[in-house]
Amino acid sequence: MNSSEFLSRLSSLLDPRGLLTAPDDMAPHLVDWRRMFHGEALAVVRPRTAQEVAAVVAACAEAGVCIVPQGGNTGLAGGAVPAGEGGQIVLCLSRLNAIRSVDKVGMLMEVEAGCVLQTAQEAATAAGRLLPVSLAAEGTAQIGGIVSTNAGGINVLRYGMTRQLVLGLEVVLADGTLVNGLRHLRKDNAGYDWKQVFIGSEGTLGIVTAAVLRLVPAPRHKVTALLAVPGPEAALALLSRAQDEIGDQVSAFELICALSFDLLARNCDLRSPIGASPWVVLMQADSCLSGIDEAMEQVLTGALEAGEATDGVVASSETQARQLWALREHITEAELREGVSVKHDVSVPIADMPAFLAEAEAEMARALPGCRANMFGHLGDGNIHFNVLIAEGTDKALVNRTVHDVVAKYAGSISAEHGIGRYRAPELAHYKPATELALMGRLKTALDPEGRMNPGKVLG
Ligand code: FAD
Ligand code: MLT
Ligand code: ZN
Repeated sequence: MNSSEFLSRLSSLLDPRGLLTAPDDMAPHLVDWRRMFHGEALAVVRPRTAQEVAAVVAACAEAGVCIVPQGGNTGLAGGAVPAGEGGQIVLCLSRLNAIRSVDKVGMLMEVEAGCVLQTAQEAATAAGRLLPVSLAAEGTAQIGGIVSTNAGGINVLRYGMTRQLVLGLEVVLADGTLVNGLRHLRKDNAGYDWKQVFIGSEGTLGIVTAAVLRLVPAPRHKVTALLAVPGPEAALALLSRAQDEIGDQVSAFELICALSFDLLARNCDLRSPIGASPWVVLMQADSCLSGIDEAMEQVLTGALEAGEATDGVVASSETQARQLWALREHITEAELREGVSVKHDVSVPIADMPAFLAEAEAEMARALPGCRANMFGHLGDGNIHFNVLIAEGTDKALVNRTVHDVVAKYAGSISAEHGIGRYRAPELAHYKPATELALMGRLKTALDPEGRMNPGKVLG
């Protein structure tokens, strides 16, 4: 089958808006959010139902065509755009976006892959429940992308990664088989829990068409605080204090370095309400019961007395809380506007974070003089974004190796939450033990023997 026969076959399976082949229509689908990766494609395919997805995938199997699944295209690892030249289709899930049901008593919702995360959050809120995945890209990222990257975000500390929220999945396999595992069950030990293999597999094993997601009771009381801290060690003492006083209701604990605030002021016109400090913590606690404000006050008083914090502000209204979160949520954009950066999304055991940060900074100063580290992220989860701002011409591979060698020394991970995609595939091959890479290769071969699902990603 030649390309034009293949395209007419696809067009027979879809409505007129389902197939894009004009270069201008395809362009936004062929470059990633950071504009680092550009690709080429035969077509961008936009099915409306899981059955249409299955028919398209079966047609690709017959014609030997590779498939790049795409959700909101906010991924930070270059996974959602084609690698290499043409000959592939981008399978865009945006039109498969229904919320099929919200079950208040069962505390779950069934959502199609193309539903924007924020839309799903709003539907849960309308039912008096919370969908606790939250990240700065939530207005664009889609459920299929969230599941396929096993997204983290700011609430992992309390509610876990996306994986902990997925109760059921519907997927299309590489040969076009539609598998419906959309059970509305809390407990299901009947056979292998195969959905786990697809969560976080970044489109390299199959296409997610819908998910059943666990919801939690919507907290009625929230308290948000921004605190100046002398350093990461003090921040961890503050975290421990908060967990002693407030328990598991601490839902977010973010660490931000001073450079992030410089970038926010310069590039996004956003300023912190507290004075300059080498490090800042943004903390939130949520509860269905009252009393949380008093508990937070106690934490802050104790932290100031113990020297774990030197200054701080507690949001006095929902608007002020949003302003504090806006600082955190705009760091990625402020960094993008500053110039070229080399991202590292790393995790180490939580208690080792202060030592890791000191060593990674020292190594960077030694190997990459003049580079600056924009360090911010989810300290409560042991996950920091150690993003290095570089001058034009700096060897990016050397920047990666410098930071990741320190991560390896602390038995950490080179991807805590963003995934591997195309960006980190060479680093995965370097750092992941050979036996684990071989096991991943066996899973890939079992589910995608012809290597047509998102080629060039994760395993390279
Ligand atoms: P895409 O970018 O479209 O795709 C991501 C990967 O999943 C690709 O490999 C793609 O092929 C695959 N994929 C997409 N849909 C499907 C599907 N239906 N079936 C199979 N494979 C599929 N991530 C975090 O974890 N935590 C954060 O705090 C965070 N903050 C961010 C802040 C900003 C400003 C930005 C731009 C990104 C941030 N991200 C964060 C990264 C990104 O938002 C997440 O990875 C998100 O899950 C991607 O969703 P998406 O729909 O945009 O997926
Ligand atoms: C975030 O936590 O804001 C993103 O995951 C980080 C990034 O841009 O590196
Ligand atoms: Zn993050």
